[in-house]
Amino acid sequence: MEREKFYITTPIYYPSSDLHIGHAYTTVAADAISRFKRQLGSDVYFLTGTDEHGQKIQRKAQEAGQEPIEFVDEVVSKIKYLWDRLYISNDDFIRTTEDRHKEVVQKIFKDIYDKGDIYKDYYEGWYCVQCEAFWSQRQLKEEQGCPDCKRPTEWVKEESYFFRMSKYADRLLDYIEKNPDFIQPSSRRNEMISFIKSGLEDLCVSRTTFDWGIPVSFDDKHVVYVWFDALTNYITAVGYGQDNEKFDRYWPADVHLVGKEIVRFHTVIWPIILMAAGIELPKKVFGHGWLVLESGKMSKSKGNVIDPLILIDKYGVDAVRYYLLREVAFGSDGYYSEEALVNRINSDLANDLGNLLSRTVAMIDKYFEGTIPEPKETEDIDEELKKLAAETKTETEKAMEKLEFSTALASIWKFVSRSNKYIDETTPWILAKEESGRPRLQTVLYNLAEALRIITVLISAHLPLAPLKIRRQLGIAKESDLLTWESISTWGALPAGVQISKGEPIFPRIDTTKDKKETKKESAEEKEGKKAKKGSKEQEEGIVTIDEFKKMDFRVAKVLEAQRVPKAEKLLKLKVDVGDKVRQIVSGIAPFYQPEELVGMRIIVLVNLKPAKIFGLESQGMLLAASNEDDSHLTLATTDKDIKSGYPLT
Ligand code: ME8
Ligand code: MG
Repeated sequence: MEREKFYITTPIYYPSSDLHIGHAYTTVAADAISRFKRQLGSDVYFLTGTDEHGQKIQRKAQEAGQEPIEFVDEVVSKIKYLWDRLYISNDDFIRTTEDRHKEVVQKIFKDIYDKGDIYKDYYEGWYCVQCEAFWSQRQLKEEQGCPDCKRPTEWVKEESYFFRMSKYADRLLDYIEKNPDFIQPSSRRNEMISFIKSGLEDLCVSRTTFDWGIPVSFDDKHVVYVWFDALTNYITAVGYGQDNEKFDRYWPADVHLVGKEIVRFHTVIWPIILMAAGIELPKKVFGHGWLVLESGKMSKSKGNVIDPLILIDKYGVDAVRYYLLREVAFGSDGYYSEEALVNRINSDLANDLGNLLSRTVAMIDKYFEGTIPEPKETEDIDEELKKLAAETKTETEKAMEKLEFSTALASIWKFVSRSNKYIDETTPWILAKEESGRPRLQTVLYNLAEALRIITVLISAHLPLAPLKIRRQLGIAKESDLLTWESISTWGALPAGVQISKGEPIFPRIDTTKDKKETKKESAEEKEGKKAKKGSKEQEEGIVTIDEFKKMDFRVAKVLEAQRVPKAEKLLKLKVDVGDKVRQIVSGIAPFYQPEELVGMRIIVLVNLKPAKIFGLESQGMLLAASNEDDSHLTLATTDKDIKSGYPLT
């Protein structure tokens, strides 16, 4: 049977400054649905990327005193690093400055021109550089502020090419009527219908007053308007005009995931470009809501943007992703707050899921010497648990198909809670008191372990690390047939007799009072640091005090991933687990180790070294190694006995 294909895209973001939690929101959602579809066996193509041309970027580069390409190269490498840290599993990353894209934009522009739907004229009107959008006086009403971002617009007067949008209005309305799923959620659909009905004007699709863009192939005084350029990325990436087999396989896109402010570009301009070029329309555009702060919309100028990297460092990637997907219903706007994030961690992750694992594993350890027991005596209540497991699978499928991430997670957590309640109801500690309780105790603990296995499958689209941590403790980290979506269709796939391995809590509670104390402690240490700088005698002689040594946070770290760094022969990029967090370390050990042999190794890392940029990649710590004088040999420092990641060196 042929695998179903699934092509999903995020907006391509402007590399005008570093991305924030709002951009992470869309990308994490796209990642969750991609991972879910892969679990179901689909052939997924998940695209994200960057929208690099236009007046906004050109001005930003000028302000920074850089060439536009230098400027975007830097921001793009940070964006890719952010997606790495969020475990984004995109299959492609498109940059509109790539040659593959330039060719497609020039071709499609020329095709439409040859057809007569693009013509030359003169443009006079308002322009919002921030949104890269043209506005008519009618749309601006009395004010001159941009209707979308409220910033002042600029008066533009130049020769331009125009696109006959008006000609296609009826066909577009017809398509929207006939395809009720095309624009989602339905409130946005109604908005767009009335927008189109109020009359479409021909769109200006080229600019002459700056040059950071793709030249119009037959008139190179003009660069293609940045939205025309940007939207086209969705067909470039799947090989339009270049790789027909790939294009036929993946196009039309199954869903373009976008924020609500750019639904108009995706459901009016984009389909009309495609119609004019004779290309099929995407199946769905989903416009999700905004994450806003109590103080209003996030913006660089307000200085209130939330950096996802800081949150990942502080709380771990699973917590950040869980919060983004769980907190707000995907179509609606919602408030972001760190307090709500911490609440989610403490209640859902630490208290519900974390406790379910530690209670189960502790009891298997205590009552069955760490071996998952064989189920024996059953009771009605077991059926209730099994039934809910099956229902949760179906509900998760339904919710994920509709991109209702929060509903999916709520339903999974209902099962987590039910499993915790099962412990309270079956009272294993009482069963353990009498020999006659053993057969029942076996069933109860087996069922709990199986419930946890099922949970790891259910959450693995959302949380990239927790499932493996749980499976390691359950002793089934390597049993890949127990991880498939199919494997949770029936209860009881988990084999009895497996040796568990009790570990640290996977989601430590965030103690908000302790958190404050630690910040204070740090500042005391800082003061001490300043004292030391004045130059004590010991320092001059190259001797360190115990206090100075204590400042170095050396930890045992387990290598989770290792990869070569393209174009840097000596470098390897590692993801290491330092206990509660995963860090990226870039190190010049490629001549001495193959990436594969490092995975699983326990090394020693200095974690509180100031992060450094190596080859454009952030390195968040230093690993310890010994090498000879001419650097021809090198060996990594490791531990001689098995020990948990994150243990400090003393
Ligand atoms: O618009 N809440 O790029 P952009 C939720 N280059 N989502 C948010 C958000 C928030 N507060 N802030 C940003 C562009 N987003 C164009 C797109 S596509 C052909 C070209 C997300 O960098 C959301 O997905 O301004 C929004 O649509 C997108 O980032 C805007 O990113
Ligand atoms: Mg924007």
